[in-house]
Amino acid sequence: MCGIIGYVGAEHGDDALEVLLDGLSQLEYRGYDSAGIALADGGINVHKCQGELSALKSALPMERLGGEKIGIGHTRWSTHGPPSDANSHPHTDMDEQVAVVHNGIIENYQQLRDDLTDAGVEFQSDTDTEVVPHLIAHYRDEGLDYEAAFRTAINRLEGSYAIAAVFDGIEAVYAVRNESPLVLGIADDGYFLGSDVPAFIKYTDQVIYLEDGQFARLTPTELVVTGENGRTIETSIETINWDPEDAGKSGYDHYMLKEINEQPTALRECFRGRLDELTGRIELSELGALKPDGMVTFVACGTSYHAAMVGTRLLQERGVPAQAFLASEFDSDAVPIDSESVVVGVTQSGETADTMRALREANSVGATTVAVTNVVGSSAARETDEVLYIRAGPEISVAATKTFASQQAALTLLATVFSDQYSRKLVQELRAVPDQIQSVLDTSSAREVAETYHGSDAYFFIGRGYHYPVALEGALKMKEITYTHAEGFAAGELKHGPLALVSEDTPIFAIVTGDGRLAEKTISNVKEVEARGTPVVAVTDGESNVERYADHVLKVPASSAVTSSIVANVQLQLVAYWTANEFGRSIDKPRNLAKSVTVE
Ligand code: AGP
Repeated sequence: MCGIIGYVGAEHGDDALEVLLDGLSQLEYRGYDSAGIALADGGINVHKCQGELSALKSALPMERLGGEKIGIGHTRWSTHGPPSDANSHPHTDMDEQVAVVHNGIIENYQQLRDDLTDAGVEFQSDTDTEVVPHLIAHYRDEGLDYEAAFRTAINRLEGSYAIAAVFDGIEAVYAVRNESPLVLGIADDGYFLGSDVPAFIKYTDQVIYLEDGQFARLTPTELVVTGENGRTIETSIETINWDPEDAGKSGYDHYMLKEINEQPTALRECFRGRLDELTGRIELSELGALKPDGMVTFVACGTSYHAAMVGTRLLQERGVPAQAFLASEFDSDAVPIDSESVVVGVTQSGETADTMRALREANSVGATTVAVTNVVGSSAARETDEVLYIRAGPEISVAATKTFASQQAALTLLATVFSDQYSRKLVQELRAVPDQIQSVLDTSSAREVAETYHGSDAYFFIGRGYHYPVALEGALKMKEITYTHAEGFAAGELKHGPLALVSEDTPIFAIVTGDGRLAEKTISNVKEVEARGTPVVAVTDGESNVERYADHVLKVPASSAVTSSIVANVQLQLVAYWTANEFGRSIDKPRNLAKSVTVE
């Protein structure tokens, strides 16, 4: 999984170097093991190196660059071969006739590599991608023109790919996609391509989402999309209504903090036009008349799986049978789904390979598939029967924050519509959540808690009911950006083993809201750890007496269990953020991780 960008400027177009570096900075969330560009201007000029984009920028011979109007770029998350200069993209053929960037995995690359090696090709990298420029060069040497050589080479590939290529000798970028995202951009004085819209939103909001199997040719004067048969395809141009500012940090030190602070706006956007306070009705016209007639199965990974757990409980409480699977563990041979089933993939990016595989399996047995996603035009959005957009806006930080809140909210809407159980009270509670989150953002003492406990041996999180997925999410956020051991537990499970782990150096975060049965039981669990000298941080609305047993309190406004879990999670996001900040971690780009995991 990687990010790719391409640009072809017209006569008065921008400098390709500037466009590519700009775009790559917006795509680094897709991977940052290495970065590279190829500028085409009477020859191909490749610059690439291991490390983040900043390393490439410092290595560029700026005095010799500038003025080029055509180029491609890449930011890498390693799959085949470790991060290294040689494994960085773009890759070229031996004569540097063509340079290629690629996102995805070429499954038959070993066979192709063996064949090319037998034919005398000397490979420079360990990557699967490098077979592509060599194949293209092979067909050029056989006499095919640029486009025919590109198409013929691509036809030899099996796997997932978004590929862009520039040639020595022609002012064009050629591109294709299959099961990896690729978006085209159209501006007055140039054409763009990118793995995602933020790559070029600064230059244009006019986009075309390329479909699987479609090719694109970008030249200074035209953008042509063709099908597998080579015929031109009429495509529709869509207008993106994101503010380019949305893709910047807007004065925050990190995207993560910006995105945490965007949650009130994100949720208002999620609710826009969908809630009717007078009647309590919730309208999700995107789902049409879809009503499950049996089990609803959620598939998702990471944070999205935690949201899927919330969705499962919401449906179960409303009398609709539901189950959630980690997408990587979902196996349609073991889980009975058929053409009567509804399978919901929860995925922020809409590109996660594990989730896509599960959704494709569900499609193959004729189940009705639904994507709950943030990214318009993503693979999940395109390959499922129905799509529910969470409308959180672009999320750049690898750690998912605002999209989790929006997923929880969107799934609350979905569960209400699926179960036909409307309530004015719920609509009012949902409407109140953005302001409640704002009050938490304005008053939180999470930073002090982080300062007190940073450097602890481990962090534990407990909760029951809707607060259990939030406990898991709190721990995921903490480990992801602080690199410290953190674990979330169903509060009742603590006594069945994990209690052996707690010590004076392992603060425990307990999410307790309301004063009902679940709160009482969680307080009993809190007492069990408190009695062992473990520091307790209570995330609470003050309705129960949990504060009596807590060393610190992180306050949330009183609300129902499901909506208070959305708000309580914000306190845990802030604790993780400020703890990572204490350590000086690479918060937006934690080590070894990438935003969008497009490999299984
Ligand atoms: C969470 O902070 C991570 N970024 C990760 O767990 C993520 O939620 C997971 O990879 C699933 O991604 P998706 O929602 O884009 O499918």
